[in-house]
Amino acid sequence: MIIEPKTRGFICLTAHPKGCEKNVLNQIEYIKSKPTKNGPKNVLVIGASTGFGLASRITSAYGSKAATIGVFFEKPPTEGRPASPGWYNSAAFETQAHKDGLYAKSINGDAFSHEIKAQTLNLIKKDLGKIDMLIYSLASPVRTHPDSGTRFKSVLKPIGDTFTNNTVDFHTGVVKEISIEPCSDEDIDNTVAVMGGEDWQMWIDLLMSENVLSEDFKTVAYSYIGPSLTEAVYRKGTIGRAKDHLEATAFKITDSLKAINGKGYVSVNKALVTQASSAIPVIPLYISLLYKVMKEEDIHEGCIEQIERLFNERLYAEDLQLDEAGRIRVDDWEMRDDIQAKVLELWKEATTETLPEIGDLEGYKTDFFNLFGFNVDGIDYDKDVDEMVAIPGLQ
Ligand code: NAI
Ligand code: NA
Repeated sequence: MIIEPKTRGFICLTAHPKGCEKNVLNQIEYIKSKPTKNGPKNVLVIGASTGFGLASRITSAYGSKAATIGVFFEKPPTEGRPASPGWYNSAAFETQAHKDGLYAKSINGDAFSHEIKAQTLNLIKKDLGKIDMLIYSLASPVRTHPDSGTRFKSVLKPIGDTFTNNTVDFHTGVVKEISIEPCSDEDIDNTVAVMGGEDWQMWIDLLMSENVLSEDFKTVAYSYIGPSLTEAVYRKGTIGRAKDHLEATAFKITDSLKAINGKGYVSVNKALVTQASSAIPVIPLYISLLYKVMKEEDIHEGCIEQIERLFNERLYAEDLQLDEAGRIRVDDWEMRDDIQAKVLELWKEATTETLPEIGDLEGYKTDFFNLFGFNVDGIDYDKDVDEMVAIPGLQ
């Protein structure tokens, strides 16, 4: 079929298998020339199909020849209806990995459930014996608690006061003010239940008790801080409470891994266009200005550049360079004083009229469409493609 982008609000309902494949192959190519010294060997990636999780899987596989198991929640294709992008990404990754003689298998389902955890555990036992790294990179709007069956929904709201600031609709380029009403107490608890650290801890507890974590095992989850501009709605809002919980969980995990000298870390990553971040108000305007400034300074990074630096200059390097709160920081370039000062200046000037000039709206849009395999260089979108692509290592 001929597949075109079909957008609704901040999501795209279609994905292009060839475009997704090209994105994955480009990331593999990038990592091949940047091997990780003493890198991981057997890696489980939760949230492995898109964004930072996919980049982590690629960096593990192609930076240190690691065997990878990927867990994700993606929609398979049906005749005439393309799959979700993470499906095509995983198909492309596993096809290439197998060609290159790398172990790569995957499990598609709800990572929050007992069932998917048990399935993953069995696969580890059967094929790998033990893992030495677990990457936790889930981004989900909902979580059904595996014990109580309660379905929690996360929200992106400020706490206490109404938040008012500018945002951009990146499809139309219109910059306008928006207001977001403060959350209820329940919203905070629900958001922490979805995006906090409880599920990460549950994974670790299960794998530890089943003795499938090797000596010196490491696990890392991803967090975000960001600028003062977005603080009220992000870091000091409901999602920030969840990130506080996630960060606190890293220390608890380290405690629970004492017997094997294991470590739990949080890495604070840079703001990037992913399916998760395009839904957050104000962030798209911030990102389009940030991209402009970081590209001018020649320090712009995508997911793969971020994770390569995380592995090669932090996790598997001599010095983790932890901040005062014990976190790894690869948002260091985004948060540089000179970069933030420039973004703040531009923010004051940003209007519908000025943004195409002072911001990188084009870069934002390109990245957004790239997430779904569209606007990718070297792909002929007029050509018929087979939407029925299989993931070769899918269990
Ligand atoms: P993403 O939307 O690209 O990836 C989410 C992944 O989670 C996908 O693989 C998806 O299949 C999987 N997933 C979602 N629900 C699932 C479920 N119930 N069961 C199994 N798999 C499920 O998101 P992104 O942006 O890569 O986010 C990953 C982490 O990085 C999140 O914790 C996010 O807060 C964090 N982060 C994101 C930043 C950004 O700017 N995008 C910046 C810093 C941190
Ligand atoms: Na991810």
